[in-house]
This record gives sequence, structure tokens and C-alpha cells, in this order.
Amino acid sequence: MADIHIVNGPNLNLLGRRQPEIYGKRHFEAFFEEMKERFAGHRLHYFQSNSEGALIDYLHKVGFGKVGIVLNAGAYTHTSIALADAVAAIAAPVVEVHISNVYARESFRHHSYLAPVCVGSIVGLGFAGYALAVQYLLDILQHEQ
Ligand code: DQA
Repeated sequence: MADIHIVNGPNLNLLGRRQPEIYGKRHFEAFFEEMKERFAGHRLHYFQSNSEGALIDYLHKVGFGKVGIVLNAGAYTHTSIALADAVAAIAAPVVEVHISNVYARESFRHHSYLAPVCVGSIVGLGFAGYALAVQYLLDILQHEQ
């Protein structure tokens, strides 16, 4: 049994309502309930904040345990050295996820401060990216045991 934390950043509380042509029509909470069923036997946790400091505090709080973290930092991905420093500082492996294909969008979305400090990135696969990231983290955490 492993603990996986899914962390969503700014504006991702609006999934389902926000630009559905880009992010889809599903609410994340419903998808998260499905994920908990799919990964029953493990503990999945969900945290969302629109605040950079709250995201950093959450990473500090959970990131020194034996956990995996899936992080969609939204626009902070492209701006936040502080969040990248937090990811680098903690012990837990972090997988970066983006719902949309950021490389097919505006050029300011092509740079990620997080990618170099994450174990990997999943981009453009919609909500499926979160499930793939969880599966990967469970695999590596199990191998560490
Ligand atoms: C996003 C991509 C970011 O560029 C954007 O600012 C978001 C969502 C995604 O999941 O596709 O808020 O992280």
C-alpha cells in the first residue's frame, strides 16, 4: 500500500467549466473518485490550491514521507522558480502532468521550470495523464521496498 498525492495548481479547480475545448468537460473531483476505485488498495490524496505558497507548503508537508506526487502546477509551471525549488528540495518523486499539449499552444507554455526537477513529464493526454503518473509512481515505490 502506497500514498500518492495529486496536487493541482491555479485555475484547475475550474476543470469542467474552464475552457472545455482545451481541458474537457469533466470535473476533476468525479475523476478523482474513479481513480480511487481504480487504485483501491492504495491511498490517493488530492490537494488543489490557487496559491503558490499553499502549493509549496503542501509539498513541504508531504514530500519527506514515503510517497509519490503527481503535480499539475498550471501556469506556475512556466513562472515559478520557488515551486521548482520546493520540488528539488523534497525527497519524494514528482511527476509533472499537463492535461493539454502545452507544446501545441502559446510559446510561453513551452518552458517548464518544473521539468528538470521532476522524474518525468506527461503532457497532452488529458486526465489519463494523471492515472499514468499514479501507475508509474506506484511501480517505482513498490520496487524501492
Ligand atoms: C495546464 C497547462 C498550463 O499551461 C496552464 O496554465 C494550465 C493547465 C494543463 O494542465 O494543460 O493551467 O497545466
